[in-house]
Amino acid sequence: MKLKKIDIFEIEKDSNFAPRVLLLSIPPAVVFICLVEFGFLAPFDAILSYIFIILCNMVFLSPMTLELQHLKKYINRLAMGEEIENMNLSEQEAKGIAEAVNSMHRFWMAKTDALEAEAMSDAAVLDTLPDPVLMIDRSGNILGANLAARKLFDDNLTDQNIGDVFVSQHFITAAQKVLNKQSESENLIFYTEPTKQKIYAHIKSLPWFSKGRAVAVVSLYDLTKAAKIEKLQSDFVANASHELRTPLSVIAGFIETLQTTAKNDDAAREQFLAIMAEQAAFMSDLIENLLSLSKIELSQDTPPQDKTDMNKIILEVMDALQIKANARHINLIFEKPTRLKKITADSAQMKQLMQNLIDNAVKYAVSGSDVLIRINTVDTIPASKSFHVADGKALSVSVNNKGPKIESQELSRLTERFYRLQEHKNLGIKGTGLGLAIAKQIIMRHRGNLTVSSSNKNGTTFTVYLPLKR
Ligand SMILES: Nc1ncnc2c1ncn2[C@@H]1O[C@H](COP(=O)(O)OP(=O)(O)OP(=O)(O)O)[C@@H](O)[C@H]1O
Ligand SMILES: [Mg+2]
Repeated sequence: MKLKKIDIFEIEKDSNFAPRVLLLSIPPAVVFICLVEFGFLAPFDAILSYIFIILCNMVFLSPMTLELQHLKKYINRLAMGEEIENMNLSEQEAKGIAEAVNSMHRFWMAKTDALEAEAMSDAAVLDTLPDPVLMIDRSGNILGANLAARKLFDDNLTDQNIGDVFVSQHFITAAQKVLNKQSESENLIFYTEPTKQKIYAHIKSLPWFSKGRAVAVVSLYDLTKAAKIEKLQSDFVANASHELRTPLSVIAGFIETLQTTAKNDDAAREQFLAIMAEQAAFMSDLIENLLSLSKIELSQDTPPQDKTDMNKIILEVMDALQIKANARHINLIFEKPTRLKKITADSAQMKQLMQNLIDNAVKYAVSGSDVLIRINTVDTIPASKSFHVADGKALSVSVNNKGPKIESQELSRLTERFYRLQEHKNLGIKGTGLGLAIAKQIIMRHRGNLTVSSSNKNGTTFTVYLPLKR
């Protein structure tokens, strides 16, 4: 048998190696003392034999002690979570223990991988939720937050306390109630600071068997957008009814006059009937515009299909508006490109869009001036803050008319429903205030954009951008 090379100096001081060797040498020492006492062995021989036994003990014990020390270090490193290779020991006992530790290590590695994968997929699923979700422990510390929550508050939400994140006392009180088990769940509405977002919160305690330290889950729903839409809808209904009430009350007033005081007045009847016809025409325009606005809104999610020739459409619209333009001595000029590709756009909506823009130009231009319509090709559509525009090349159609400068704060409001410039109302120019709102909806459906510029020198220019390809 080949003896292994042993380095006794490798053995650590606190390994109890020396006491163990001495302990094992006590029984032979007792035997030698007795043998010397009864004269069976000379003292010198006894001492030599005893030293030999001690050396033998040292030689046989040291490999075992060394390997047990390696094993101890290996287990400590595993406990610290270090990534290390399996260890191989030669001593039979230590080998057995090492194998047991190795298989335990492999089992926990597999278990940890599975748990990690589970936790990662849980987190990924939570991150896909559009609404913020937070998990909190008994003291109100945030244990986890999904992407939507991190976007709403702060990227480093984890380990912060809800008291530091939520300013609303109303929310904190409700959360405390759930954490103190006074209530199973709480629902409330609060406002964030400083953005003043209106948030609906649902705080629910988790069942006792749920994993980890989480005791409650907070789900939030941003009501700001819904509240804005609700307000827009109610404003719209109020505005539409108001716009209809005015001509209706005019008509009702004239009917009453014609039935009473002006009953036999032929001249008055003619005059009143003309006004009533004008008011009725306005009401019909208004209703028609309201209907087409809702129709275009409904078409928003359907991509346009037609191959549309914008040159042809503009010429048709110019033809239709020629009489109106002549009446105001307006010269309609179209700088037509020689070659223009057809675009994919809803032909009827394109006609309505050009009709609304050129009609405005004719209506609001200084009498006797030129209205200039130009078509160009541009590389990109200018971005919009409120809606998505298509990438790539586009057609730009600009309509310019001469007139006083429109201030920038008013320019940005022109596409609002029913918004009309005070100066045009004062001049008695009739309009429903819906033409540009309709134009905007059509442009949004086509993923294009609309820009307006105005100056005293150049007048007002509306430019429509329409993607060449969809
Ligand atoms: N080319 C323009 N030049 C100057 N002001 C304009 C021009 N186009 C629009 N406006 C202003 O913007 C307002 C809104 O225009 P919009 O086309 O939406 O409504 P309208 O022309 O008043 O009514 P409608 O087109 O429904 O008959 C107009 O009332 C006018 O004050
Ligand atoms: Mg108009």
